Amino acid sequence: MIHVNQGAPGPNGTCVVITGAGGNIGRGLAPRLLAAGYDLTLSDLKPVDGLVTEARFAAADLRTGAGLQAATADADILVHLPALHGIHVVDHTETEFWELNVNGTFRTLQAAVAAGVRKVVWLSSQAWHDSEDVYGFTKVIGEQLLDYHRTRHGISSVAVRPASLVPWTDWARDYGSGLLYERVDRNDVLDAIVLSVDWVAGNDGGLVLDALHPDTVSANDLRDWEHDPIGTADRLFRGARSVVERFGLDISAPPVRPSKLGWTEVGYAPSRDFGTWIKEVAGLSDDQVKARTSDY
Ligand SMILES: NC(=O)c1ccc[n+]([C@@H]2O[C@H](COP(=O)([O-])OP(=O)(O)OC[C@H]3O[C@@H](n4cnc5c(N)ncnc54)[C@H](O)[C@@H]3O)[C@@H](O)[C@H]2O)c1
Repeated sequence: MIHVNQGAPGPNGTCVVITGAGGNIGRGLAPRLLAAGYDLTLSDLKPVDGLVTEARFAAADLRTGAGLQAATADADILVHLPALHGIHVVDHTETEFWELNVNGTFRTLQAAVAAGVRKVVWLSSQAWHDSEDVYGFTKVIGEQLLDYHRTRHGISSVAVRPASLVPWTDWARDYGSGLLYERVDRNDVLDAIVLSVDWVAGNDGGLVLDALHPDTVSANDLRDWEHDPIGTADRLFRGARSVVERFGLDISAPPVRPSKLGWTEVGYAPSRDFGTWIKEVAGLSDDQVKARTSDY
């Protein structure tokens, strides 16, 4: 075992390898796992600027398997991230989706088996519910690959299913009102993944975790919302009326309540909802809001 974190030893000296470490989620996850005390190996197609320096880097290409043996060699836990996703459907073929999302996942799980890794956190998606779409279909197959490797090879796993956290272009509409519907804050997703790593580190078996926004709206609130969206929003989220009117947000559809699969098991308690966004935006000028760009 190589312990590459030069600081405090990881929880029980546990080493995590992150594949796709240079992407949106990987960049946020590495510092958090380091802060939690894990040792890290980062892997991607090639070294990426700006990654944490307290980790070893191992290049690997999931389409061929080159480098996977070295990347997984010293790991106790694999966090597997690379995938083509929803935004790639327009300019990538179904075969390309299959190669990276399915074959790439299978190869990486097989490398984990060969390296003696017995714990995996894999990024599924809420697109799992839409198996008629190629992206969602590859997430269905991916979760089946986890099931297979658990029963055949004793690999414990968590399949984390985030809602969309893609970088937003309009902080009011994409991000703010998005938190009422199908979006989740990236920090909550990163919390969900760290908790999943903690869970597999200490448990055997398999879990699915819905990485979604907080459950802050009750069934009664949804009924009220149908009759009076803005009034109900203002009752639930102080200051909502003025912010909704200021940005001309359409919140006429009732909010979506999250499914809470796996929340209790891993201790997931998301905290960023429409109300936290209202509080943040209320103190800012229109120019400050317009200038706000996604930091990921
Ligand atoms: N971002 C979201 O909104 C979102 C929502 C739900 C689920 N997810 C899932 O989370 C995971 C990570 O998402 P992300 O946003 O960080 O993705 P991303 O596209 O930002 O990063 C993917 C990383 O994988 C690497 N990669 C691509 N092809 C590779 C290959 N052949 N071999 C090795 N590495 C390769 C890329 O270089 C990149 O660094 C994905 O599985 C995605 O389906 C993401």
